[in-house]
Amino acid sequence: MASRQPLVGGNWKMNTASSEADALAGAVASFQPGACQIAIFPPFVYLDRVAAALRTAGSTTLVGAQDLDHRDNGALTGQVSASMLLDLGIQTVLTGHSERRHVIGDSDELVGLKTARALDAGMMCLLCIGETLEQREAGETDAVNERQLRAGLKNVQASTLGNLVVAYEPVWAIGTGQTASPDDAQNAHAAIRGVLRSITDDATADATRILYGGSVKPSNANELFAMPDIDGGLIGGASLNADDFAAICTAASDSATTATTTAQTH
Ligand code: PGA
Repeated sequence: MASRQPLVGGNWKMNTASSEADALAGAVASFQPGACQIAIFPPFVYLDRVAAALRTAGSTTLVGAQDLDHRDNGALTGQVSASMLLDLGIQTVLTGHSERRHVIGDSDELVGLKTARALDAGMMCLLCIGETLEQREAGETDAVNERQLRAGLKNVQASTLGNLVVAYEPVWAIGTGQTASPDDAQNAHAAIRGVLRSITDDATADATRILYGGSVKPSNANELFAMPDIDGGLIGGASLNADDFAAICTAASDSATTATTTAQTH
């Protein structure tokens, strides 16, 4: 089985003032990532200072943007392009976060355009998908994930898929304190990997990291990350608390070490 390096992303959303962003960046810079890759997603206006702080500290933590526009420049008030992000050394980005889809109104089609733009620009793109409570109760979880994944990858070139990460975030679990059970999350992740297999190929599907997001906390991270198709997490609320975020990153790192040890003893 492919071994995938766990990734933990901290999505700060529209939170922090500059002083808090500095303090949080300083704390994250002191983390020992172990086997885990870490990425943080501050608001646009703090990207440059947070990236500079982590660079100065010699941290390997990636700094990413929470969104991008799929066009390169022009009369698009308020928008930020991939080239602007790359100009600041920002090489990681989220697309399709549920708040962009359900609060701000990004359509499946728009998410597909943004995802293709990010990957074409050589960025690592975390494409977020997930069902609402209503869709879950109607038994549509896998169908919604498949629809969002196919639309998200519609314009993506196969040669760029190495930089794709998928984040499965059930909308009802985001910021609510409710988490999918490890078994439910694993089932959704396995189905998503199956869709990836049919869109791409076995090697790409096996190599692509699929993160779980939705009220991940230090108290539930270990059991979620122990699941075979859960390759880390996308963390909202808990990423604003440096101790909680560190504990979640440690859980992801430990899950990789445990998986390696298990593989060696079989
Ligand atoms: P949460 O958010 O951890 O606060 O539930 C997750 C996310 O939106 O990525």
